[in-house]
Amino acid sequence: MLTAAVDARMADVSIFSPASPQAGWIVDLAILTLAIIGIIFLVVEGVLFYSVWRFRRSKSHAPGEPAQVYGSEPIEIAWTAAPTMIVFFLVLVTTRTLWEVEAAPTTPREGDQALFVTVIGHQWWWEYRYDSYDGRKLGFITANELHIPIGDDQTARPVHLTLQSGDVCHSFWAPRLGGKVDLIPGRTNLLSFETVEPGLYLGQCAEYCGAQHANM
Ligand code: CUA
Repeated sequence: MLTAAVDARMADVSIFSPASPQAGWIVDLAILTLAIIGIIFLVVEGVLFYSVWRFRRSKSHAPGEPAQVYGSEPIEIAWTAAPTMIVFFLVLVTTRTLWEVEAAPTTPREGDQALFVTVIGHQWWWEYRYDSYDGRKLGFITANELHIPIGDDQTARPVHLTLQSGDVCHSFWAPRLGGKVDLIPGRTNLLSFETVEPGLYLGQCAEYCGAQHANM
């Protein structure tokens, strides 16, 4: 069995065990967002259950409708302002993370210790054209397996992917290394990440691209 040979950490595809700064920023945002919506969930459910309990049918209550309140200005202001502020905060933190993980277009130069690869999505396989490393031209092609350099404390060895499609839309996703980026026919997208942890990082096409989508 293939999985038996691969230890649990290597087979890990969880976004919660990031192996690159880029994946780390994404999981930080995910945890912050989960915390905020968790608090909202607790408040809303708390008020709901309190109301259900407080206004349950009981013998001591007089029959008929309780007092009805229409058009309370403070309440209307509160429930407009609070969600607006929460959404604005989420927009700010999301924009910051998008900004952080956004791959700036770079050109290879000598001594950059950077790997440049053109990734072409096909039905149903990945073509990796190794363009250059450390400013030197490479010019070989592999299928499905991408080999990347590992950085260390002194040296970052970034990987810059140029993503293109040979047919339909695909999406490149190696969860422990970075976010999903789509490969769109007629368009070029960029993705950059770097890691200092040697290992096997599994990826998965994240855009349904036909019958064999699961195999790429
Ligand atoms: Cu390629 Cu899904």
